[in-house]
Amino acid sequence: MRVIITKDYDAMSRRAAGFVRELIERKPDAVIGFATGSTPIGLYRELIRMHREEGLDFSKIVTFNLDEYIGLPKDHPESYHTFMWENLFKHINVNPSNVHIPDGTVPDVEAYCEWYEERIKKFGGIDLQILGIGRDGHIGFNEPGSSLGSRTRIKTLAKETLEDNARFFGGDINKVPKQAITMGVGTIMEAKVLLLLASGKKKAEAVKKTVEGPITAMVPASIMQLHPKAILILDQEAASLLEREYEYDSTV
Ligand code: PGA
Repeated sequence: MRVIITKDYDAMSRRAAGFVRELIERKPDAVIGFATGSTPIGLYRELIRMHREEGLDFSKIVTFNLDEYIGLPKDHPESYHTFMWENLFKHINVNPSNVHIPDGTVPDVEAYCEWYEERIKKFGGIDLQILGIGRDGHIGFNEPGSSLGSRTRIKTLAKETLEDNARFFGGDINKVPKQAITMGVGTIMEAKVLLLLASGKKKAEAVKKTVEGPITAMVPASIMQLHPKAILILDQEAASLLEREYEYDSTV
């Protein structure tokens, strides 16, 4: 695992954008896994800037998002479709037919999840998967207890996640969808590179367990310890509970 500790949220976002840019410049038709949530917004802003000011070309990339709420139509203001289009896709020259975001309204979720997995394979697998982390150590919506070999499937959200996401639903936990389609832990682990971003004190405990704790399904992100190319980009607050001393950019 490579642990990169940056000064603050902006530095974390810029550092992450550098990895995405390097990939696209090297492989213009790269397959990139995107994440939603507050954490990657700064990264997406920086990618938009790189597109506008430096001509970074997204026209050939293929995208796969990690997850989507069950039951929210694509045009719902809090759907992850809306999130991705508003925060990134509509501002860059991505080809809409190359964008994949799970559809939380399909009648046959199981068949759809199989199709999603096949689709990832058809494009040769994910080159770089961007990840956030939940306070409970989730990646995607793989909550504690998720099988570390799991594939794309439907998951019920943990209480911490419902509480954390209530802020997007007028603060009302009852309005947060209770289930989501999510890539599995096994699906995520097949990406060639994992890039996990974490910012702020409230992520410090989950980060510590991910980097220094045992590998356990109770902290799904801890499986990243087994990935040959897992990169964590943290700000100082998110890194604050790590016990070992890490250099600014240390490989462990
Ligand atoms: P956040 O969510 O970026 O909004 O903190 C991260 C996650 O739940 O994976």
